[in-house]
Amino acid sequence: MTRYLILALTLTAVLCGAPLAFSQGDMLVIKPEAFTAPRRPPAVFPHDAHNEKAKIDDCAACHHGGENGVRDPKATSEGVPCADCHPVVAAPGRTPLMRAYHQQCIGCHLEKKAGPAACGQCHVDAAAPKAK
Ligand code: HEC
Ligand code: HEC
Ligand code: HEC
Ligand code: HEC
Repeated sequence: MTRYLILALTLTAVLCGAPLAFSQGDMLVIKPEAFTAPRRPPAVFPHDAHNEKAKIDDCAACHHGGENGVRDPKATSEGVPCADCHPVVAAPGRTPLMRAYHQQCIGCHLEKKAGPAACGQCHVDAAAPKAK
């Protein structure tokens, strides 16, 4: 449903000659369709606010590129769901989807000694996160 809304808005922007601004300001949680029967509430992640607060300027810090199971340090993948390259079910040579998220999110939090590392701090019950 939201996909169609985004498509409609994008088309409107194009037709009006407005520059295509990809803003993730409205993204508050991560809820990939690939997890068809989630066991946990979706993780809190107010995309733009998070990255501002954490002072991450480089999109490739999270949106890296790669193909056929090989990372490409010259490529990036903004806007491509992690699930496009990381299968839900483990496959040889591929980091499965849940581990991909956990390793990236928690890995940086531990490295920076900032940000949550406990389950309930990300998978917040009745997630009605406020955009900060
Ligand atoms: C700290 C990690 C992180 C950084 C840094 C980051 N993103 Fe993202 N972004 C994500 C995650 C996680 C998603 C959700 C991916 C998924 O659906 O699997 C996402 C989703 C998106 C989407 C899709 C939005 C939607 O509503 O589906 C776009 C477009 C995007 N990011 C662009 C960017 C751009 C441009 C930058 C740099 C200015 C950036 N991101 C920096 C983690 C990040
Ligand atoms: C365009 C394809 C592509 C996208 C999109 C992508 N990845 Fe990856 N990623 C790869 C490849 C290729 C590898 C290396 C093989 C593997 O481990 O699966 C990799 C490896 C990883 C690894 C293993 C450690 C490392 O850094 O090599 C993590 C963690 C990871 N990705 C997390 C993510 C997350 C989280 C997202 C979404 C924000 C994401 N990836 C989006 C292609 C992608
Ligand atoms: C490259 C580093 C990095 C990555 C990757 C990253 N974070 Fe963070 N995150 C931070 C830092 C740094 C903070 C602390 C910001 C502060 O409070 O100053 C933080 C804070 C947070 C917070 C607390 C925000 C608040 O307002 O207190 C949440 C929730 C969070 N991260 C979720 C995530 C999720 C979910 C992912 C994976 C999709 C993720 N982060 C990936 C660096 C990162
Ligand atoms: C830094 C944030 C963070 C922490 C800490 C974290 N997760 Fe996650 N987790 C995520 C993200 C992001 C996803 C991707 C899908 C989503 O948002 O639910 C995910 C996905 C999952 C999934 C697969 C989707 C589902 O709901 O079935 C499970 C299960 C899960 N996490 C369990 C846990 C458990 C158990 C812990 C503690 C040991 C934990 N997570 C800690 C961010 C986190």
